[in-house]
Amino acid sequence: PPLDRILSLRDMENVAKHILSHKALAYYSSAADDEITNNENARAFLRFFFQARVMRPVSHCDPSTTILGFKSSIPVFVSGAALAKLGHPEGEANITRGAFKGGIIQMVSSNASLSPNAIMDAADQSQCLFFQLYKHRNDSIAEQRVRAIEKLGYKAIFLTVDAIVPGNRERDIRSPWIVDEQENGPIYYQPGSPADFPEAGQNLFGTAGALIANDDRDMTWEKTIPWLRRVSDLPIIIKGIQCVEDAVLAAEAGVDGILLSNHGGRQLEFSLPPMEVLYLLRRQRPGVFERVEVYIDGGIRRGTDVVKAVCLGAKAVGLGRPFLYAQSAYGVDGVSKTIEILKREIITAMRLIGVSTLNELNPEMIHRIDWQPI
Ligand code: FNR
Repeated sequence: PPLDRILSLRDMENVAKHILSHKALAYYSSAADDEITNNENARAFLRFFFQARVMRPVSHCDPSTTILGFKSSIPVFVSGAALAKLGHPEGEANITRGAFKGGIIQMVSSNASLSPNAIMDAADQSQCLFFQLYKHRNDSIAEQRVRAIEKLGYKAIFLTVDAIVPGNRERDIRSPWIVDEQENGPIYYQPGSPADFPEAGQNLFGTAGALIANDDRDMTWEKTIPWLRRVSDLPIIIKGIQCVEDAVLAAEAGVDGILLSNHGGRQLEFSLPPMEVLYLLRRQRPGVFERVEVYIDGGIRRGTDVVKAVCLGAKAVGLGRPFLYAQSAYGVDGVSKTIEILKREIITAMRLIGVSTLNELNPEMIHRIDWQPI
């Protein structure tokens, strides 16, 4: 269908599901085990309702914000997701160009199909890009990577900590193994090839198993954060915080931000939905929001989802799959359309709640119900 017929992120996803290859769809959409956490990430938003205010002036409404001090047209960023070329020949460059058009920030995956260099080349001079880091188990290899990223002009490091081993994604594992010559070199191990991680060669862990085979499984607060601070001046954000206790430890470790995330339900099955973790953090440890910027990702598909998270104190939210689907279906225009849709939905929600800036959103505007609608 023509792009002007796409009204929602679900419409976009439906188009992508028709055009993606079997392998691409399996890799993009799959999640761990029975995909309960992936589904609940989205369903968690159904338990949060607004307590809207009326008789407030909203003809002027501004949904813009800053993330780590960088401007964003809406409180949304692209969460780094691997292998955009599986869905479209231009790959991540579509997301980079679309994000620029829409005025939001892209977090580039360590396992992007295009090199960090090529993605930077696709960016506008003035554009801000963040980098998602999978830390190599060898500190000096990891250090070289971080230094290269900083030199290229990436503005923050999102260190992923929830994927020290790959989750069990059966739809991905079942779908045929492919070897693809990506710009970063061949990133899929062939069955039987001498992988550093012997299980990877047997395809027991699917695509993710091959991609993160050399990652550090022994990271700690005491060792890894000071290491990263030593090798880089960039802001550090921990991606993959799944409980209140670790949010507190991250703040104490002196990082700049935390991304409450369970990797889109692709890692630990029955990890709590990030929206629920955000709710608990707001109730139990509100001080954390003063010390670090708090973000969430997982299951966000509507402007109201975004606004709910902002009410509870999230500075911004990330979306993973929707941007992969959008670039697969319509390239750059799909990405900018996705941002436009979210912006329109966010502004409508803000006006109907009775606020004209994001700062006015607060926890009193949210009520959590303990039953599940639908
Ligand atoms: C991811 N995600 C991810 N995270 C990360 O830190 N490094 C990565 O390389 C990837 N790769 C990746 C590939 C695909 C296909 C998906 C769907 C996800 C997780 C991603 O950053 C984010 O946490 C989730 O996608 C958020 O959930 P939603 O928005 O997809 O529901």
